[in-house]
Amino acid sequence: MDGGKGRKILVTGALGQIGSELVPALRHRYGENQVVASDIRIPAAGAYEGLFEQVDCTQPLAIQDVVRRHDIGAVYHMAALLSAVAEERPQIAWSINLGGLYNVLEVARQNGAAVFCPSSIGAFGPSTPRDGTPQTTIQRPTSMYGVTKVAGELLCDYYFERFGLDVRGLRLPGLISHSAQPGGGTTDYAVDIFYQAVRYSHYTCFLSPDTRLDMMYMPDAIDGIIQLMEAAPARLKHRNAFNVTAMNFTPDELAGEIRKSIADFAIDYEVDPVRQAISESWPHSVDDSAARREWDWNPHYDLAAMTADMLAKLGAKLKTPARRA
Ligand code: SER
Repeated sequence: MDGGKGRKILVTGALGQIGSELVPALRHRYGENQVVASDIRIPAAGAYEGLFEQVDCTQPLAIQDVVRRHDIGAVYHMAALLSAVAEERPQIAWSINLGGLYNVLEVARQNGAAVFCPSSIGAFGPSTPRDGTPQTTIQRPTSMYGVTKVAGELLCDYYFERFGLDVRGLRLPGLISHSAQPGGGTTDYAVDIFYQAVRYSHYTCFLSPDTRLDMMYMPDAIDGIIQLMEAAPARLKHRNAFNVTAMNFTPDELAGEIRKSIADFAIDYEVDPVRQAISESWPHSVDDSAARREWDWNPHYDLAAMTADMLAKLGAKLKTPARRA
């Protein structure tokens, strides 16, 4: 949704993996001047177009100041650390991922703003059923990232039940994009592999060949976020933490798909024990029927379509002619 009644949208983490594609999509949909981008980082002079504010989400007054000055009616809260880096720096991850969310929810409550909050397949753990993972199931994650995601889901539910705050969210799987690169995530291999394939026809993967995880192409994720925020509230039984997925594959299967376009593409493996352990605690494939039922979730990209588009877009971006098998 837009901010409602002419109010603006604030995107936190706007320079991150999702934020850098969400901001242009929201501006396209609701108007260039209706969306304020924010991040803890400050873009180089002249490198960013449109409204931008530097905001550290661990500082509630900084969020309050921007929300009041710009008359913000909806916050898309994307500022967070991903799983591997959160595991390296658990104290900071708690402060950013959960403290930041708490601050955003409080400021939204005080200013009557709606909130979008991304959860993740990381909110599940080793005791969760891994195939057809239900919408409502056991959630006992073992990573700090997962702990903050489950706690965040509960906090969002609490703010809706207790204060009537319109907070909605998705459990996103690994996201693949040719625009901004992720950093410090367990599913990052599925992005890195394309850059290395286009540049060098070779990739060394940090997950083992048979590690199956849910994934999604970024255009579907952006559409899903906007679609959920525009959904009629009366249809939403869950509101928050919807399972969503578009495809699932292993590194070996993704390499096979890339080889259909780059015949000499080679993959080898140097498994990172931290990220391997995290991935083995996550689902293979979630059941996203609640999202399909309640707000018509319907992703467009499967493995073949995503791979073809990634190779074409990266070929153009890296100025490497797309090769054909
Ligand atoms: N893509 C994220 C990560 O790997 C999962 O939500 O951390």
